[in-house]
Amino acid sequence: MTSAAAVDLTVQIGALRLRNPILAASGTFGYGLEFAHLVDLNRLGGFVTKGLSREPMEGAPAPRLCETPSGMLNAVGLQNVGVRAFVAEKLPVLRSFDTAVVANVFGYALEDYVEVIQVLGVQFGTDPRMVADVVGAARKAAVKRPLWVKLSPLVTDIGLIARAAEGVGADALTVANTYPAMAVDFRTRKSRLGSLTGGLSGSAIKPITLRLVWEVRKAVRIPIIGLGGVETVEDVLDYVAVGASAVQVGTASFADPRVSERLVDALTTVLEPAKACTLNEIRDRFLTENG
Ligand SMILES: Cc1cc2nc3c(=O)[nH]c(=O)nc-3n(C[C@H](O)[C@H](O)[C@H](O)COP(=O)(O)O)c2cc1C
Repeated sequence: MTSAAAVDLTVQIGALRLRNPILAASGTFGYGLEFAHLVDLNRLGGFVTKGLSREPMEGAPAPRLCETPSGMLNAVGLQNVGVRAFVAEKLPVLRSFDTAVVANVFGYALEDYVEVIQVLGVQFGTDPRMVADVVGAARKAAVKRPLWVKLSPLVTDIGLIARAAEGVGADALTVANTYPAMAVDFRTRKSRLGSLTGGLSGSAIKPITLRLVWEVRKAVRIPIIGLGGVETVEDVLDYVAVGASAVQVGTASFADPRVSERLVDALTTVLEPAKACTLNEIRDRFLTENG
């Protein structure tokens, strides 16, 4: 028997128990099904769908992606099939997999969030009162289903936003989204994206997001899912050290669609029973020494 069977990687996120702390991030893993021939979905802690809206959306003009040093810019424009098509066409197939499916939802008004969540059985996020309104309404619409709130990194005090979401019933917080950014070509006087600006992701953002996870950890007690530039098992453990219970993997899946599965293997090796170190210990030690 390999140590893989002996290492317990399960994590508890509110009422939800995940097989391990590695999830594929929203927008980089389609609706999961597109990756099913490449990745053993049942081995992941879970994955997060592309953002779902009330109506289908076509998204932004091409080019939508552009490489930058140590990262990339995207301006996909929230293209998606719409929540009804997701429920009718994708969800029935996804149910045959034994992995957590997290539906990422977005809207432009409070009612959008409520309707999308109701059909399923959150960039509204820069003002704590607005966050409390949206998350409070989402909480009611989600009834007893776990509700994770993904925070925008573009705020002055992320701790305030995190507390507002926790206060009205979020089960967990995902920290964080991409950072508004630009890449241009001065010769052609054009943006390198079809839209003028986009969102920066990848290893370039890891140190910035790592600090946000740390700030959120100090502000709330609910579990945190860290994401931003996770590529290696060291990245996973850095996020765990500053307070995350799990991580998501986004941009790294473009270079290697199987990276999440590889990270599960690498974690198993790093956390081998002989080394007697658990995710909780890594987090507790860091927090105790730097709290
Ligand atoms: C092409 C692309 C599309 C994305 N679409 C979404 C989306 O629909 N909803 C969302 O919440 N985040 C979306 N994101 C953000 C990612 O989920 C993640 O928060 C961000 O990329 C940071 O993680 P990373 O550095 O590991 O990529 C998208 C990211 C990329 C690169």
